[in-house]
Parts: sequence; structure tokens; C-alpha cells
Amino acid sequence: MNNSAGLGFFRNHLANRIFNSVKRPTYAYITITALCNSRCRYCDSWKNTVICEPDTDEWKGIIDELVRIGVVTLTFSGGEPFIRKDLFELASYARSQGLITMVVTNLSLFKESHIEKIAESFDFFGISIDSTQPEVYKEIRGVDWLERIKGNVRTLMAGLTELKAEVQVCGMVTISNRNAHEMHEILHLIFDDLGMDTISFNLLDSSGGTTAGELTPTEDQIQYCSRIISDHKSLYPISNSTRFLSQIGNFDYRCNPWKCVQINENGLLLSPCLFISGKPDIFPEGRKTDLCKNKLSDVWREQQKIYSQYADCKLCNLGCVAESAWSTYDLQFIIQDSFFGMIWPPMKRIHERNCRTG
Ligand SMILES: C[S@@+](CC[C@H](N)C(=O)[O-])C[C@H]1O[C@@H](n2cnc3c(N)ncnc32)[C@H](O)[C@@H]1O
Ligand code: SF4
Ligand code: SF4
Repeated sequence: MNNSAGLGFFRNHLANRIFNSVKRPTYAYITITALCNSRCRYCDSWKNTVICEPDTDEWKGIIDELVRIGVVTLTFSGGEPFIRKDLFELASYARSQGLITMVVTNLSLFKESHIEKIAESFDFFGISIDSTQPEVYKEIRGVDWLERIKGNVRTLMAGLTELKAEVQVCGMVTISNRNAHEMHEILHLIFDDLGMDTISFNLLDSSGGTTAGELTPTEDQIQYCSRIISDHKSLYPISNSTRFLSQIGNFDYRCNPWKCVQINENGLLLSPCLFISGKPDIFPEGRKTDLCKNKLSDVWREQQKIYSQYADCKLCNLGCVAESAWSTYDLQFIIQDSFFGMIWPPMKRIHERNCRTG
């Protein structure tokens, strides 16, 4: 984490405690494209065909506005972000504006020629890997890609080590009833076999796709995963907070959805979040606002009421958007559990990775 990002986190924390009228969001999460080349059972993105997405300049305008309202980190998600030809241009632009840039990808479209661009454009590079077994990977993600993705990760890690790049490469694991028994093996794959920098676990959202419910882990499976991951936290640089792991499946913290600006593939601000804005029959106060036609800073100010209305909402686990460790005002917890428990161990590992070359 660079100094200006650290300052940004701190500035937002203080401003949000002192001034209550217009909140400063720290995170932004944009679905850069809805299209996808995979066929995951817990996500319906691959069924999307219609494209009406902002162009490069429109996304840059939205990025400028994110900076204006105080955002510190910007995650590019999808769909499969690598389908957008301007992904690196947009991420580099966001970085040049001072944002910490993140991406989550299935890594299927990766090429060796991307390595330098990845090093220049991203601070955090999340790669979804749900299993160590090709047949389980295929059962969860619908495509027989595990060996190919592992090969891509090895090429990427070797290239980043060669460049002494600071980008943090993270294995993203969605816990389901298909991989719950594999936690030990997944940790070994990510760290010992593939040499990645960190790992982040996320609990399956049963409403994330029409067949997602078939993969819902049982309570026992969730508790087992939580125990294995917690037991390994002192051995490996695991990116989940201890609070996230102790509460997994039964979260008990304020959502504070204003902490994370969510923008969909059409450039629409989802207020207060994807879930509420997507169910107008149940939550008529939710909004979708076109950011190609409206300035985000204006809309943000006008819609603060919607965000504060859902401060205590517990309808979803928010895991993939803003980890529970960040959804708190407790500065001591942020420094101890979040910085020393989540940020510092991967930084140390990246330093060691880069020291391996001459
Ligand atoms: C929506 S994907 C987009 C990025 C990219 N296509 C990928 O799969 O990495 C972002 C992350 O959300 C996770 N995800 C998708 N559907 C989910 C669900 N129903 N519950 C929990 N996580 C889910 C994926 O495993 C992935 O790690
Ligand atoms: S999880 Fe990612 S790879 Fe899988 S269908 Fe959804 S967007 Fe595509
Ligand atoms: S907990 Fe509620 S407000 Fe927060 S993201 Fe989930 S549905 Fe939205």
C-alpha cells in the first residue's frame, strides 16, 4: 500500500466520523463488462449477450468523479474484465489519478505479453481458483480449465518476479459444497505450488445465479472451512480478517453500503448496492442512475439518504465487495487486524518474492 493510499484511508475514516452529511466512500467496484467466456454454476454472467457499455472516455470521466468523491481503491470486475480491450488503459488511467487498482479475473485470456502491463496497471490482481482438482473445477466453473489457468499463473508469477513488480497476486476462492473439503489442498496449491502472494476466501452467495443454490455449503462445511483457514492464518498470508473468518456464514456488522460505490456494466450507479437496486418491487427506494448523463458527485450527494437507510442492513454477506474488516469505525481493529493481519503479511511475501532474483 503506498503512502497516499494510506493517507486516503485515514482521511476518509476521520472525515466520516466528524462530518455526517456526505460520506466519503473508500472503495469502488465497477463491472467493466457483463460478458464472460466461462460457464460458472454460481454466476449467470456468461449468459449475457447485450452490450451497451460506456466507452473508454466515458469510463475515464466516471473514474475522475470517483476520485472527486474520495474513493481510494477501484476494483475492475465483470463478467470477465479481460474481454474489455481497454482494461489496461483504464486501470493505468485510474492509477495515474492516485487510485489503488484491483482486478478479479478467471485468467483464461491471459498472455505472456500482458505481464508488463499488469505490473504497470494494477496494485492487486485476483485470480479465481476454486479447486485443486480438474473435475471439481469443471463442475463448479463449467469449463475444463484448471491446468491451463495454473500454467498461466506460473508464467505470470515468474514474469512479475523477474520484473520485481509490487503487484499483489491473490487466489480468489469461493467456498461451496463442492470444494469445502479441499481447504488444505487449496492453500498448498496457491502458496507452495503456484507461489502466489495471498489468498482471499469468499462464501458462495446462493442467489448469485439461477443454479448457485445447488452449490450452497452446509453449516458444518462452513464451520470446517473457517477453522482450517483460521488455523493457517499464522502460517500463510491469508487476506481475510479474523473477524470475517469467525463470523463467516453469520455476519454481524453494519453494512454501511456508502463505503463502496457500485457501478454496473452500463455505467449505472447502484444505490445503495447491487442487491437492493436490483429488486425494485421489494425495495422501491433503490436507484440506478446513469453516470454517463449525470455527474457522480452530484448524484452521490443527492442520494445519501438511501445509503444511510441501509446502514444496518444484513441481507447479504457483502464478502466480495468490502470485507467485514473494513466495515467498521474501530480504528484499533483496522490497524491491528486489518493492517497487521491482512495487508502486512502479503507485502512481506512480495518483498521476499522479489528478493529471489539477483
Ligand atoms: C463475478 S466474478 C468476475 C470476475 C471473473 N470473471 C472471475 O470469475 O474471477 C468475481 C468473483 O465473484 C465470485 N462469484 C461469482 N458468483 C458468486 C456467487 N454466487 N457467490 C460468491 N461469489 C461469487 C467469482 O468466483 C469471482 O471470484
Ligand atoms: S464467476 Fe466470473 S468467470 Fe464465472 S461466470 Fe461469473 S463472471 Fe464469468
Ligand atoms: S447488506 Fe444490504 S445494503 Fe449491504 S450490500 Fe447487502 S443487501 Fe446491500
